[in-house]
Amino acid sequence: MESSQQFPLQMHNSFNVKAVCPTIYFLNNLSDLELLPDLNDCNFYILGDGTNTLFVDQNTPIIIKPDFKGIEIIEEEESYIVRVGAGENWHELVKTCLANGIYGLENLALIPGSVGAAPVQNIGAYGVEFADFCKQVKWFEFLTNTHKNLSSEACNFSYRNSIFKQSLYNKGVITEVEFKFPKVWRANLAYAGLNELAKNSTAEQVMNKVISLRQSKLPDPKVLANAGSFFKNPIIAQAEAEQLKLQYPSIPLYVQDDEQVKVAAGWLIEHAGLRGFQKNGVGVHKRQALVLVNYENDSGQEIIRLAKYVQQKVLAKYKILISPEVRMITEQGEQNFADLVIDKEYI
Ligand code: EPU
Repeated sequence: MESSQQFPLQMHNSFNVKAVCPTIYFLNNLSDLELLPDLNDCNFYILGDGTNTLFVDQNTPIIIKPDFKGIEIIEEEESYIVRVGAGENWHELVKTCLANGIYGLENLALIPGSVGAAPVQNIGAYGVEFADFCKQVKWFEFLTNTHKNLSSEACNFSYRNSIFKQSLYNKGVITEVEFKFPKVWRANLAYAGLNELAKNSTAEQVMNKVISLRQSKLPDPKVLANAGSFFKNPIIAQAEAEQLKLQYPSIPLYVQDDEQVKVAAGWLIEHAGLRGFQKNGVGVHKRQALVLVNYENDSGQEIIRLAKYVQQKVLAKYKILISPEVRMITEQGEQNFADLVIDKEYI
């Protein structure tokens, strides 16, 4: 197993902040898993492509970097089974599927990150979620040194959440994801922006539309450092949502069920007057207020300061607490955003 000490992570996080880890372990083969030291009493963080991670401090805990490769396609009578190593790139997978006539992931095109990270936060965009096509997740358990298969139901997927953030948190590593794509396919065009496509659009046309929508709103992390949506869309009670709608008739609301409603956090941030806000080299993106960007700062602390400011302004205006989707990594390991202390607030 490859490993390295005092390893710089600036090239391994899409916020492009400076951080150094004491040791990084690269898992290239399944046999490397057996060689990992006992991590029972250590702080560590499992890092994919670093596109949903913020290194808050200059130092991080031990980093484990799964890089298992391989895509295997199995054709069944009515569906395709696709097995993918956790270290494969998500967007490349979407393109490979489409090139092989396997449809379903086109709405999830251009999402940055690795395949192994996709189940952790159940990535989703344009009306489709990872969970919709997940058959099972292969996972290596540290305690027993064994490989387990978790069915989609066992993964407990919900909006930007899964068992890997809950009871299985840091208890093992995702090694492979298995998808099931039915051969009978219909374009999913329900989301705003896609509904202008013709009903009989091909999966390639849907993918190209998703790519152009994303490119028109979301900054490319290779050009402008960011981690996509910084906050999750908050889910509030229906009665609260009705009040908000009376006060702000144009607010985008998405009914979840009889009791709960999802609110577009980007709208809340924009209408709190923060779209395009910039300070100390970081800011709220000009076109999508849910995205925080790092123009020219190399400290994670500065992004936290901005995020706390945004959270406070939204809370003060709407009495809604928005919480980050991005994972906060300090020297002690992952922390709750609420527990992070900043040295100085904006005045
Ligand atoms: N909006 C504003 N101002 C803004 C941003 C958004 O008014 O600055 C409004 C939009 O006009 C729209 C609504 O808010 O009416 C929703 O906006 P959008 O369709 O851009 O989606 P979102 O809810 O802001 C979510 C995901 C994105 C995903 C898009 C498209 C989360 C946290 N984010 O964003 O995922 O691409 O939907 O499906 O759920 C990511 O997770 O990194 C990510 C980019």
